[in-house]
Amino acid sequence: MKVIRSVKEMQNTMLEQKRSGKSIGFVPTMGYLHDGHLTLIKQARRENDIVAVSIFVNPLQFGANEDLSTYPRDFERDSQLAEESGADYLFYPDASEMYPRPLAVKVTVGDRTDVLCGRSRPGHFDGVAAVLLKLFNIVIPDFAYFGMKDAQQVAVIDMLITDYNIPVTLKTVETVRETDGLAKSSRNVYLQPNEREEAVILNKSLNEAREGIINGERDPEKVLSFMKERIEQNSSGTIDYIELYSYPELKPVKEIKGTIIIALAVKFTKARLIDNTIISI
Ligand code: PAJ
Repeated sequence: MKVIRSVKEMQNTMLEQKRSGKSIGFVPTMGYLHDGHLTLIKQARRENDIVAVSIFVNPLQFGANEDLSTYPRDFERDSQLAEESGADYLFYPDASEMYPRPLAVKVTVGDRTDVLCGRSRPGHFDGVAAVLLKLFNIVIPDFAYFGMKDAQQVAVIDMLITDYNIPVTLKTVETVRETDGLAKSSRNVYLQPNEREEAVILNKSLNEAREGIINGERDPEKVLSFMKERIEQNSSGTIDYIELYSYPELKPVKEIKGTIIIALAVKFTKARLIDNTIISI
């Protein structure tokens, strides 16, 4: 596996691969890799001639009071894991390499961002869209792999690719979980031991809601108030949001039908966790 830190070198290398007829699978990440990321890399490995992974903690997608400076990092471990999972190229640029000066042409995401993480993290998805637009132009992938743990991110990237005619096919991968159901996340290391135990209720309450809906519940308010109570009674975390929308449009629904998402964010002492479930009925 080759580590590349320069934008120009990465772009030239990828162009060369493309010209020789190779398909390129791309997995963008912010590092501190876990099984969720590695599942994306392994799927890209199975489906492409060349696999490129990026590690870049993108300052543009962090708010002023968020965890940019404390976001966990371990490049040595990450590069070993990426290589073992089948990456051919690891793109690892500095912030000054990606943003030599502030962007003069900004990307604003005007739909699917007035709810969930878009509402509680203003500007976050503008930053995600901007960095991905750059990364897609640098890596020029045929396929790009994203996890459904960040379902709103997937809904936004889907619009970015369509609106700007980016010649890449979006591939999604189911959320990878710990054995007790907690969604794997780079931020889980910041949970205190009691919080780690309590955090199981996030996925548990989503599963209970799913079961209720499968058994005939159609009222979003009832589902959400049930989940709220379950989480409040079983964890010390503060609920940032628990919401239910159509998916991928992310519009409110009066009655549960078609494809919907239930998504939540809970703040613990040093980590804000998200999880979701998508249900089609
Ligand atoms: P990051 O949080 O590092 O996640 C990189 C990719 O791994 C995303 O597509 C995310 O959905 C996926 N992922 C994370 N945890 C997962 C899990 N438990 N199961 C399955 N997939 C999982 O998402 C980002 O970085 C950034 O916003 C990025 C797209 C790289 C742009 O900066």
